[in-house]
Amino acid sequence: MEALIFKIRLIILSWVHLRSHSGPISLVKHFSYKDIKKATDGFRRSIYNSSKRVAYRAKFQNGHAAIVKEVRAFEDQDDAAFYREVQLLGRLHHRHIAALNGFSSGPKRFLVFENMEKGSLKEHLSDPLMTPLNWRIRLQIAVGIAAALEYLHFFCDPPMYHVSVSSSTIMLDENFTAKLCDVSLLCSGENNNPIPTSKCSKECRDEICKHTIFQLGLLILELVTGQSSEDGGVDLVQWVQDSRLRRRSIHQMIDPDLGDNYDFTELKGLLAVAKMCVQSVHKPTVKTPQILWYLQKKLGRTRVVVY
Ligand SMILES: *[C@@H]1O[C@H](CO)[C@@H](O)[C@H](O)[C@H]1NC(C)=O
Ligand SMILES: *[C@@H]1O[C@H](CO)[C@@H](O)[C@H](O)[C@H]1NC(C)=O
Repeated sequence: MEALIFKIRLIILSWVHLRSHSGPISLVKHFSYKDIKKATDGFRRSIYNSSKRVAYRAKFQNGHAAIVKEVRAFEDQDDAAFYREVQLLGRLHHRHIAALNGFSSGPKRFLVFENMEKGSLKEHLSDPLMTPLNWRIRLQIAVGIAAALEYLHFFCDPPMYHVSVSSSTIMLDENFTAKLCDVSLLCSGENNNPIPTSKCSKECRDEICKHTIFQLGLLILELVTGQSSEDGGVDLVQWVQDSRLRRRSIHQMIDPDLGDNYDFTELKGLLAVAKMCVQSVHKPTVKTPQILWYLQKKLGRTRVVVY
C-alpha cells in the first residue's frame, strides 16, 4: 500500500512540477556591475563568506531589498555556461528554494535572489543575541529543505544535484520560511573543477546525492541540538549513530534554547530520520523522496506546507 501511495505521489508531483518548469523566466532582470556595487554598499554588507562563495545584502535604488551572490565557478570566457545557469535557476519555482530575480554578467558575475529578511539559519542557531527558533519552525525547516531536495533531484529537468545544505547557506525570509540559497547546475569534476551536471557520470551523481542526504542529516542534528558539527565540539554524527535514542541521552543533547517546548515523539522521529540520513553513505538505496516521506509520516500531527 505504501509503495502504491508513494508511486502515485511521484506521478502527481511530477505533473505539478513539470507545469511550473515552463514558468516565465522573463522576470530575471539584468543588473550592471555599478548597480550591484552601489546596492551592496561597495561589497561591504556580506552575509556569508567562505573561500568558494560570498553573498551580500543589497538594497537597490528603487528600495527593493535582495540577496546578491558572487559566482566564481565559471571560466572568465565562459559566458554561455553562466547564462545557461541563470536561465535554469530562473525556472526553479519552489517554496523552499530562493527565487532568482536577476543577474549581472561583468566584470564580475552575480546572481540576485529574493530578499531573506531574517538572515541565515546559522545565525539563529548560534548567535545568542538572536531570538531562538521554536520547535514548530525547526520542524518546518527540516521538512521544507527535504522537499526542496526532492524537487531538485527528481523533478527538475535537467536535475540539479549540486546543492550545499548547511545552516549557513539556508536563509530565512520574514516568515521564517527556509530557502536553499546555494543551488547550481554544476558539479565538481576532477580536481574540484566545476563541470555541468549533464557531463557528470552516474557514479558522480550518486555520490553527490549521497553526500547531500548526509548533509541533510547533519542539518537535522543541528536543528535539534543547536550545535554545529562544523565547529568541532561534540561529534553529532557519532552520537546519533551510537545512540539508541533513549530519553535521557536525547535530553542531554537537545538545544537548551528549546527548554521543554517540544514534542518528544516528533523529536524522536526527527532523530531517527537524521540517523538514516547520516548512514546513507553506507546505504545508497535511500533517496530524497523516501526521506521526505518518512519525515512527513513521523511528523503526522504537524501540518507542514512544503510546496
Ligand atoms: C571574507 O572574509 C575574509 C577573511 O575573514 C576577509 O578578508 C574578506 O574581506 C571577506 N570578504 C568579504 C567580501 O566580505
Ligand atoms: C509572510 O506572510 C504574510 C502573511 O501570510 C504574507 O502576506 C507575506 O507575503 C509573507 N511574506 C513572504 C516573504 O512570503
